[in-house]
Amino acid sequence: MRVFLAGASGAIGSRLVPQLIERGHEVIGTFRSPGNGERARALGAQPIALDLLDARAVREAVLKAEPEAIIHQATALADVRFGRSLDRSFGPTNRLRTEGTDALLAAAREAGVRRFVAQSFASYRYAREGGPVKTENDPLDPAPPAMARETNAAMRHLDEAVTNAGGIALRYGGFYGASNDGLVRPVRRRQFPIIGDGDGISSFIHLEDAAAATVLALGHDGAGLYNVVDDEPAPMREWLPALAMALGAQPPRHVPVWLARLIAGKGMVMMAVGSRGASNAKAKRELGWTLRYPSWRQGFAAAYAPVSQGVNR
Ligand SMILES: NC(=O)c1ccc[n+]([C@@H]2O[C@H](COP(=O)([O-])OP(=O)(O)OC[C@H]3O[C@@H](n4cnc5c(N)ncnc54)[C@H](OP(=O)(O)O)[C@@H]3O)[C@@H](O)[C@H]2O)c1
Repeated sequence: MRVFLAGASGAIGSRLVPQLIERGHEVIGTFRSPGNGERARALGAQPIALDLLDARAVREAVLKAEPEAIIHQATALADVRFGRSLDRSFGPTNRLRTEGTDALLAAAREAGVRRFVAQSFASYRYAREGGPVKTENDPLDPAPPAMARETNAAMRHLDEAVTNAGGIALRYGGFYGASNDGLVRPVRRRQFPIIGDGDGISSFIHLEDAAAATVLALGHDGAGLYNVVDDEPAPMREWLPALAMALGAQPPRHVPVWLARLIAGKGMVMMAVGSRGASNAKAKRELGWTLRYPSWRQGFAAAYAPVSQGVNR
């Protein structure tokens, strides 16, 4: 298939390009930052510079490329500092998930593109009630913390717009698998503590496994939502010490909920206490997906051994 990949130079995009090519697809890959075009080309994509927030440019690029499929992996989270307001940190990404998605969908309609797959997110979104692990049929959190409302609304917009148009939204777990993953620096510096009893559940996914599920989704007929997460949703009190160990860091500190709420804000406390994980049963069953790293237990160790040994990848 001729695939238009928005965000080919990013954390998942750069894993996706080689996997798509290996499966015989032809990839037109977009980048935003100067210099990243060569990176996309080296991976095997035909690079084009594109700002997804420029709807006219999106239309022109898609019509010119004449793709059979579009994959939307554009986000703006690299180098973001996560402060008290998730909405502030995610502001540019929220626009890519709303305006960017709408521009791509409009262009897809006009160009007669039949397949559309887009990046969504699974962790911390499901309603904080009932069992610890949620399927795609379970309700989303009806009342996310105030500082994450726009971020949740943007993901909901993407999920609905894409599936209403007949496409697939992949709700990925927290990405890991690169030496510059967002959690690496704070965990190495012991700046990421276990909050309260750390019972909030997170779902993770290695970038290589996330890319593999995306390639399979491209070949799948019909609209749908899929959790693309590993087999072991886990409480913070389990995964955070394991991550610190994989990174060769000191064990995480512990802070009480009241102190975390004061310092880090309600959003961080919500992720650490009470959040729910996601089930990957549907993606395995319907996409025929198998995981190279079924649990973050092996995945963290594999991803970060070179980092903990001081090797710069
Ligand atoms: N994805 C998530 O849900 C998530 C959540 C929390 C943390 N993180 C962490 O964030 C880091 C990676 O960030 P990321 O997932 O956002 O990947 P990223 O490396 O920033 O890649 C996103 C892609 O979108 C492109 N892009 C950015 N702005 C664009 C625009 N206006 N128009 C078109 N394309 C645009 C980027 O292009 P250029 O690179 O060429 O600029 C890149 O190809 C990782 O450490 C990951 O663990 C990710």
